[in-house]
Order: sequence, then structure tokens, then C-alpha cells
Amino acid sequence: MFKIRQAQFLAPGIKRFVIEASRIAREQKPGQFVMVRVNEQGERMPLTIENSDPAGGTISIVVQAVGKTTHLMHALRPGDVLADVVGPLGKPSEINKFGTVVVVGGGVGTAMAYATALALKRAGNDVISIIGARSKELVILEREMRAVSDTLIVTTDDGSYGLKGFVTDWLRELIKRGTPIDLVLAVGPVVMMSAVAELTRPVGIRTVISLNPIIMDGTGMCGGCRVLVDEKSQFACVDGPEFEAHRVNFEVLVQRNSMYREAERRATEEFVREVQAAKNGTQSEEPCLSCPEARDEAAGRTFTEPPDAERTR
Ligand SMILES: Cc1cc2nc3c(=O)[nH]c(=O)nc-3n(C[C@H](O)[C@H](O)[C@H](O)COP(=O)(O)OP(=O)(O)OC[C@H]3O[C@@H](n4cnc5c(N)ncnc54)[C@H](O)[C@@H]3O)c2cc1C
Ligand code: FES
Repeated sequence: MFKIRQAQFLAPGIKRFVIEASRIAREQKPGQFVMVRVNEQGERMPLTIENSDPAGGTISIVVQAVGKTTHLMHALRPGDVLADVVGPLGKPSEINKFGTVVVVGGGVGTAMAYATALALKRAGNDVISIIGARSKELVILEREMRAVSDTLIVTTDDGSYGLKGFVTDWLRELIKRGTPIDLVLAVGPVVMMSAVAELTRPVGIRTVISLNPIIMDGTGMCGGCRVLVDEKSQFACVDGPEFEAHRVNFEVLVQRNSMYREAERRATEEFVREVQAAKNGTQSEEPCLSCPEARDEAAGRTFTEPPDAERTR
């Protein structure tokens, strides 16, 4: 059992957990992840280690609520325990003195890129970070990323904070201005990482991305996380999750990631029904998953604005 020491919302639907896991905290390297099971009956879920404190014996992870298991996790509070936290897994990020590195973080991908950005800075690189979100309230880890970056660019899709536009718009701008860039690291939605790859390919900038295929066992045994790199099969959980972006077949990645969409949708709906029934003490009507109220009920408080005292941003 792994005890949760802290649990704080960073933004609506995005929560950071500090978990007691002393061996993982000692061994963790940037870019690695853990497999978490919320309870004995739960499915295994891969989550990147955002940071670790070997002296305090803790790791932190940042979780975005998107389906049943992440919503279950969001309902947990300090003092609660997780059934399993297995890791650290995956190959660590390559940390070298490359020169100028641009770190691109989209949404919760910012948290997944943080440990690597910190290590790249400590290795003597000039770090330019571009972090983005749909709107102001969803921008996370701005303070932390500023501390590990020589330059920080914050973007929002709707222009409600920082520069208006996608993270890729500002990467394009840096390239257009002739900024010398030795490496790009991009972590976020597949569509964003694919767009980054298409921007850097023609100008020959080495680009590394952290892939997010469906991961099942996380140990290279099941083949669930197979991705095509240079048209050869690789297992993201042991050969990655980071890969050279220009060698990844994004089409196959998108296709494989959608394989369980129907089952995931059903699991989330079933979960919403259970939560509503428990709350009402009766069998409830079919919930409307697109209604904010139904999502709020499913998540407890996940989709509601966290109280100020709980925010760390
Ligand atoms: C190496 C790796 C590191 C990750 N790190 C983080 C992180 O730090 N923070 C974070 O919020 N999310 C992270 N994710 C994604 C996270 O694992 C999924 O969001 C989570 O498993 C969704 O589970 P669910 O039951 O809530 O949602 P579901 O309804 O089951 O699925 C929602 C979406 O999540 C994806 N997903 C579902 N199950 C898995 C799985 N077993 N493996 C990978 N993706 C899955 C699916 O593509 C689906 O579209 C990471 C994924 C990978 C592969
Ligand atoms: S998740 Fe099973 S091989 Fe990678």
C-alpha cells in the first residue's frame, strides 16, 4: 500500500499527488513512469513521475481526469492509499549538454516534461520552454517551468493568458526567427507531438517525443504498447516512452490508441451511473456525460474549480 501524503488541484481536472514510495524516489530518473492501481480491483494506469524527493521518500505525479480510473484517483485525498505503485519503468530521458533545447509541453504534458527539463537545465543547456493550454485556468506548473528555463513562453488557445495560439505556433516562430535549436523535446497530445515533428523535420532539428500508447503490463511482456518506429515494432514501455519523433508512425499510434475507445466510454458511463446511484440511494437514470453536472458528480469535485487554498499555481 502506498500512502498519499498530499493531493492538490493544479487546475480544474488536474491534480498533483505526492505519494510515499521511497525505493522509487531513490531510483527514479527523468522521463520514467510508474504503473498505478488505485484499488485491488482496479486497472493498471501508467503515470509519469513529475518529481521525486529521495530524502523524504516521496514521488509526485500529476493526473488529468479523463476516464474511470483517473476519476477514481482524483477522489483520493491525503491519508488515502493506493493499492500498487510499480516502477520506475521505461527508459530514462537522454540527458546531455546539447546546447539550446526547446521543451514543448501541451496540457498535462507539461508535468510529464518537467523532470527532463530540470535535468537538461542542470546539464548546462540553454532551455527555452513553451507550455500551453486551452485557457488560462488550465495552465499548469508555470512557476516550476520558469525556474528551470532560460526563456518561458506561455500560450493559450483562446488568448486568455500569455500568447494567443498553440504551442506549435510559437515553435514555428522561433524557427522562423532563426533561433539556433539543437534539440526539441515535446510532450502532450499525439496531435501536438505530430505537429511538432512536421515543423522540425524540414529544418532537420532533432526532436524527441514521449509516446502515450495504451500500456497494459508495462514490462514488455504483453505487446499492448507496440508502436512503429522506422517501421519496426518497438514497445513503448521498455524501449520508450521517448522516441525520435521523425521516425514514429503517428497513423498507427492514433489507430491503436482508439482500439478501446468504446470500452473506455462504457466504463466511464457505468462509473457515472454507480456514483449517481450511490448518491441518490437508488438506481439513477442514464446520465448525460456531456453535461458538466454529470461529470462533476462522477468526479466528486474533479471538474469543479478548486478552492484557492488548494491551488499551487
Ligand atoms: C508512459 C505514459 C505516461 C503517462 N503519464 C501520464 C501522466 O503523468 N498524467 C496523466 O494524466 N496521464 C498520463 N498518461 C495517460 C494515462 O495513463 C491515461 O490517461 C489513463 O490511463 C486513462 O485511464 P482512464 O480509465 O481514466 O481513462 P479511459 O477512459 O480508460 O481512457 C481515456 C484515454 O486515456 C488513454 N488510456 C486509457 N488507458 C490507458 C493505458 N492503460 N495506458 C495509456 N493510455 C491509456 C486512452 O487513449 C483514452 O483515450 C500516460 C500514459 C503513458 C502511456
Ligand atoms: S505494455 Fe505490455 S509490452 Fe508494453
